[in-house]
Amino acid sequence: MPVLETKKLTKKYRKVTALDQLDLAVEAGMVFGMLGPNGSGKTTTLGLLLDVLKPTGGSYQWFGENPSAKSRKRIGAILENPCFYPFMTATQNLKVVATIKECAQSHIERVLRLVGLWERRDDPFKTYSLGMKQRLAIASALLSDPTVLILDEPTNGLDPMGIFDIRQLIREIAATGKTIMVASHLLDEVQKVCTHFMVLQRGKKLYQGSVDEALGDQRTIEVAAEDQELLGRHLGELRGVEKMVFEEGFYRITPDNGLGTGELNRFLFDRDMIASHLVEKRADLEQQFLKILADSGTVNE
Ligand SMILES: Nc1ncnc2c1ncn2[C@@H]1O[C@H](COP(=O)(O)OP(=O)(O)O)[C@@H](O)[C@H]1O
Ligand SMILES: [Mg+2]
Repeated sequence: MPVLETKKLTKKYRKVTALDQLDLAVEAGMVFGMLGPNGSGKTTTLGLLLDVLKPTGGSYQWFGENPSAKSRKRIGAILENPCFYPFMTATQNLKVVATIKECAQSHIERVLRLVGLWERRDDPFKTYSLGMKQRLAIASALLSDPTVLILDEPTNGLDPMGIFDIRQLIREIAATGKTIMVASHLLDEVQKVCTHFMVLQRGKKLYQGSVDEALGDQRTIEVAAEDQELLGRHLGELRGVEKMVFEEGFYRITPDNGLGTGELNRFLFDRDMIASHLVEKRADLEQQFLKILADSGTVNE
C-alpha cells in the first residue's frame, strides 16, 4: 500500500489550473522529488495534501485512508517560513512547538541532535544563520516523529554551505526510514537527495520515475585504442551492447545494465589490447529534464 495516493487531484483558481488531474503514488521510504519551474503547481500540491487547500476535483489518501486529523498527525511539514520567537533559544522554541503539537518534550534533544543544533540549543534564535533557522524548522517538523516529512524548497535562500548541510540532513533523515517529499525547482537538488521524482509543468505531471533510472538509462562508455580498427573488431564480439557508434575518434557504446568500464577493460586486456581512452558518461538529469520539457512542447514558454 502506498503512503500517498492521489487520483485526478485538481486545483483550479479562477483562471489558472494550478494542478491538473494528478495521479500519483508515493511508496514508503521514498525520497520523492516534485520538480518543476516556478508556478508549476508544487506548493499548491503540497497545500492540498496537507489539507490547507481544498481540491476542486479528485481525491487523495494518506496511508490508505481518507484524509483526517489522525492521518495529518503522521505528517511533518514546513510550508512557509516557520515562525519562531527571535529572543527565545532553540530549546525554548521547540518547547512551545511541543506544547502546541501535544508531543513529548523528551523528543527535543533527539531532534536537535539530528539537525546538528544541540551545541547551539541555548542560543537565541535571532543569532542563527539562515541555514540554522531552516534546520530548526526541520527539527520542529520532526518533533512529533512523523512518518512522512514534507519540505517545500528547503534550500531556498541559503548559501552553498547551508545548502550542502540541508541536503545532507535530508539524506540522513531518509536513512532513518522516513518517507520524504521535497518540492524543488532545482534539478541538481532532486538529483542529489531524491530516490524518485516527478516533473510538473503548468500543473500537469509530465514524467515520473526513479532518479537512478533517469540517470542510468543514458549511460554511455567511450573507448579508444591505438589500433582503432582492431578495437572495432573486438568490440563487435562484446556482449551487453545495446548500441555502438564511432564518432569523434572513439567508440561510444550504449551498454545494457550489466556492462561497465571494469568489464570492458578486462575484455580488451584478455585480447591484448590496451585502451587509450575509457570513460563512462552519465547523461545527467538536466538533459533528461530539458528533453522532457522539449517533448511536451513547453520548453520555450
Ligand atoms: N491563491 C491563489 N490564487 C490564484 N492563483 C494562484 C494562487 N496560488 C497559486 N496560484 C497560481 O497557481 C499556479 C501554481 O502556483 P504554485 O503552486 O505556487 O507553484 P510552485 O510552487 O510550483 O511555484 C501559479 O500559476 C500561481 O500563480
Ligand atoms: Mg512553490
